[in-house]
Amino acid sequence: MTDRLLVVENLRTTFRTVSGVIPAVGGVSFDLGANETLGIVGESGSGKTVLARTIMGLQPRTNIEVSGSVLLNGQQVVGASERVMREMWATQVAMVFQDPMTSLNPVMRIGRQIDETLRVRLGMDRRAARARAIELLNMVGIPSAEARYRAFPTELSGGMRQRVVIATALACSPKLLIADEPTTGLDVTIQSQILNLLDSLKQQLDMSVILITHDLGVVATRTSRIIVMYAGQIVEMGATRDIFHHHRMRYTRALLDSSPKVANPSHTRLAVIPGRPPNLSTLPPGCHFAPRCAFATEQCHRERPTLQAADSPGHVFACWNPLAASTNEGDSTR
Ligand SMILES: Nc1ncnc2c1ncn2[C@@H]1O[C@H](COP(=O)(O)OP(=O)(O)OP(=O)(O)O)[C@@H](O)[C@H]1O
Ligand SMILES: [Mg+2]
Repeated sequence: MTDRLLVVENLRTTFRTVSGVIPAVGGVSFDLGANETLGIVGESGSGKTVLARTIMGLQPRTNIEVSGSVLLNGQQVVGASERVMREMWATQVAMVFQDPMTSLNPVMRIGRQIDETLRVRLGMDRRAARARAIELLNMVGIPSAEARYRAFPTELSGGMRQRVVIATALACSPKLLIADEPTTGLDVTIQSQILNLLDSLKQQLDMSVILITHDLGVVATRTSRIIVMYAGQIVEMGATRDIFHHHRMRYTRALLDSSPKVANPSHTRLAVIPGRPPNLSTLPPGCHFAPRCAFATEQCHRERPTLQAADSPGHVFACWNPLAASTNEGDSTR
């Protein structure tokens, strides 16, 4: 499919550690169109960040094996040289990292941090970089951008810091922005401001966005499609409406049940998914979710389910004993 901005095929990222081989991303395939927002959800450790960093070509080069294919605007990322990747980071793809404090240098003024990206990646001179940095700070809604240009990250609130991180990511006008838990640690009002900002920047700059989160509430109204990951694999994928109202995986149901619902008071106790995510270096032979699933059959423990088509186009799930197609309508509405 040539009109796809991103085409990922059978992507595997395996770490070799002293405690064993860890298949953090275990054969993932999906694609993404221009100007689309895709959500990636899953519990902690399900491989969301490793997947994102692999798409960015940002993994370390030792003790790791990456195979499969990541075509970004027709260009192969897997096995690409540092020079090719630098060019892609300058024009194609950028990432907002999980923790804003680690992606900003606390002892460098924020303006200089954006300047440096512009000068290193785009070869801008000092004056042009400064003007563009202030323009970017304005674009992400930082008041008094000229004054803030000289501020240190520690002088800004968490929400403002995240805006700076987003401005830095946008410095090179990427066609794809990967936002990894962009609102973790922010309070609910600021969270929705940051998500609204990403939405409006996407329209304004004609970007595609991958929004990674463990909270399905975050992606409910802001994505057209959702990928659900478990133990490094896609276990369900489909249109956002189908994932919320016609999900077939019991793991997806559990994620929905454990995510805060807008209608609930903030102190409502959340349902917790029983058990723990599997140890990736000793994965069970059958369905990886089977040890935690109350509906697992003997087949589930023995044989790995592969993705199969559900009723709607593009909706797939991997389960031997799925929820019935029509019975989950409405019960997870938020
Ligand atoms: N450099 C590394 N070396 C070895 N294992 C790693 C490395 N980076 C990640 N992993 C492992 O890969 C798995 C996936 O981690 P990842 O950070 O992608 O999860 P995640 O879905 O982003 O979780 P979270 O929601 O907590 O951010 C985990 O088991 C993690 O321990
Ligand atoms: Mg992560």
